[in-house]
Amino acid sequence: MNVSVLGAGAWGITIAQTLTDNGHSVSIYDVNKDFVDAINNGTHPFFKDNKIENIKGFYTLKEALDFAPYIVICVPTKFTRSLLKEVNKLLNDEKVFINVSKGIEPDTSKCVREIVDDEIDKKFIRGYASLSGPSHAEELIQRKLTLLVSASFDKDIAKEVQLLFANGKYLRVYTSSDVIGCEIGGAIKNAIAVVSGVLTGLGLGENARAALISRGILEIERVVVAMGGKKETAFGLTGMGDLIVTASSMNSRNFNAGIAIGKGESAADAVNHSKQTVEGVRAVLAAYQIGKTHNIELPIINAAYSVLYENVDPINAIKGVLSRELKAE
Ligand SMILES: NC(=O)c1ccc[n+]([C@@H]2O[C@H](COP(=O)([O-])OP(=O)(O)OC[C@H]3O[C@@H](n4cnc5c(N)ncnc54)[C@H](O)[C@@H]3O)[C@@H](O)[C@H]2O)c1
Repeated sequence: MNVSVLGAGAWGITIAQTLTDNGHSVSIYDVNKDFVDAINNGTHPFFKDNKIENIKGFYTLKEALDFAPYIVICVPTKFTRSLLKEVNKLLNDEKVFINVSKGIEPDTSKCVREIVDDEIDKKFIRGYASLSGPSHAEELIQRKLTLLVSASFDKDIAKEVQLLFANGKYLRVYTSSDVIGCEIGGAIKNAIAVVSGVLTGLGLGENARAALISRGILEIERVVVAMGGKKETAFGLTGMGDLIVTASSMNSRNFNAGIAIGKGESAADAVNHSKQTVEGVRAVLAAYQIGKTHNIELPIINAAYSVLYENVDPINAIKGVLSRELKAE
């Protein structure tokens, strides 16, 4: 099959390589011409030791869209809406859209599926799936064992996307019908990962991190359920699984941004100093807004919001969480 990946950053090139390994013809498009040049020269700026083979880098969105019936969306979610507006103007035929990015749009509280619905004419959408789960590009690019979930409201599309990506060698893919749960879980775990980094930056240890992951997953689950997703999805690969991998790894830019914040950097500086996308800081804002709108108890998210958006000292934010009324688990 022909597949076009939009966004040639760390995750885009990794997804493209996996699809190439699976025997598909793959193109990739990025606004950053240097990345496209590098890919066409057989390399990628983030993975210099890794040879890029058989991936066609396109400099225009139109070429990428014309190339394939499958369009993979892999740009930071703050650019998703503007990119899709452009995509819609250039489409001639229907596509299956596969989202592999992870974020929620602040203010609208929309996930990528809803942004696709907003921006792409229905006549151009043959299907939509979200592919998510615990996955660092740094490992999948080395073809290290990874498990993901292909979620779609249409079970035939979920299966189609599962078959596109699964390869029986290093990538296993499950299907799910819970698109909302998968997308919300994948987005909010980045917020908790930032908090995990803050704790590490403050010098706290494994006890604190384990407590954060255990209590953080409950907040993810509350948001998932409030937005119409399933509780069990929050405890599966796209929720708990992704939270574990993101909240404890130096490969995670969300975790690393949190460490910088814990050491005293402002959230804006921590995001700017990262060469790659840090979705978690926006996810804190989106989750905080959802919590207020739906009246959900989210003490960790609220504390993170106070640190990132109200300049509260992280130590004081933690004291605020710990001094809440004592209760049963
Ligand atoms: N890196 C990972 O391990 C990983 C794993 C799973 C999911 N994700 C998610 O995938 C998404 C992308 O992450 P990444 O790691 O690839 O980020 P990245 O910062 O490495 O790359 C993002 C790329 O998108 C490009 N881009 C921005 N706007 C564009 C546009 N309008 N058209 C085309 N390209 C555009 C940028 O130039 C950049 O090359 C994020 O939502 C992230 O959370 C990342």
